[in-house]
Amino acid sequence: MPPLEPNYCCAVTPETRPLSIREVEDGLAPKLLATRFHYFESLDSTNHYGRLLAERGEPQGTIVIAEMQTLGRGRLGRHWVSPPYVNLYCSVILRPTLAPADAPRITLTAAVALADAIERFGPIAPTIKWPNDILAGGKKIAGVLTEAASNSQRVEFVVLGIGVNLNFSLEAMPPEIRERATSLSILAGRNVSREAFLQRLIHDLDRCYAILEERGFAALAPRWDERFDLRGRRVRVEMTDRAIIGRAVGLDADGALIIALADGGRQRIVAGDVIPVEE
Ligand code: BTN
Repeated sequence: MPPLEPNYCCAVTPETRPLSIREVEDGLAPKLLATRFHYFESLDSTNHYGRLLAERGEPQGTIVIAEMQTLGRGRLGRHWVSPPYVNLYCSVILRPTLAPADAPRITLTAAVALADAIERFGPIAPTIKWPNDILAGGKKIAGVLTEAASNSQRVEFVVLGIGVNLNFSLEAMPPEIRERATSLSILAGRNVSREAFLQRLIHDLDRCYAILEERGFAALAPRWDERFDLRGRRVRVEMTDRAIIGRAVGLDADGALIIALADGGRQRIVAGDVIPVEE
């Protein structure tokens, strides 16, 4: 994991203040989530702490929140830039009734909920870059990192990590992400209430997770598909052992990405990085 830049600066301004969990809880009536909050000024990673809690039997619905992360994790071993008081870094412990092979559906479900929540606060309809990147205006605004523990029959727990750039100004972003990242405040031209956003996110996540548990992913797939930003585009898919080029078709009923190949065949992708390529 690369360390933070030594000259890394963060956007602590007089307006920044700790998140009020009490305000988040006020008026919130989720069915399954937000049973308990664990709030920290700083953690290495909320996913790491969430996993430790889950391994000790913490119930479904617990949410771990940190104002900053010293080793925020992204997908594929990447670093998630996590300065204090401006963004949202949280992990939700889930104990879904899913077979291990179906665990990726949690990521897709969370992406739908996250995009819905972001749309409420921003001027742009977010899109989803398979499987877990939320983009607004073509730039990354949020990401999902799910880490699961399973036995041979079922998923024991999932730690659903969510990072959202809320009041992250362009000037405060490290140069290496400035070109490809954005935030709600950049898009909306004003700061957003982190409490109001988290409350909305919990509401949307709770709703989508209940649909997944009660009706299955097929009931959410059309919503994911509406936001899929690469449909019909030529893409390169980088997997651990190889890369392929083809045209992105969409999701199958299991949440795998379907790629149409030049020879007329189709390939299901369950894990990989999807990058648009020039036509
Ligand atoms: C990605 O897009 O690569 C996923 C980013 C996920 C970042 C969040 S922030 C809260 C949680 N804790 C982590 O260490 N990572 C996730």
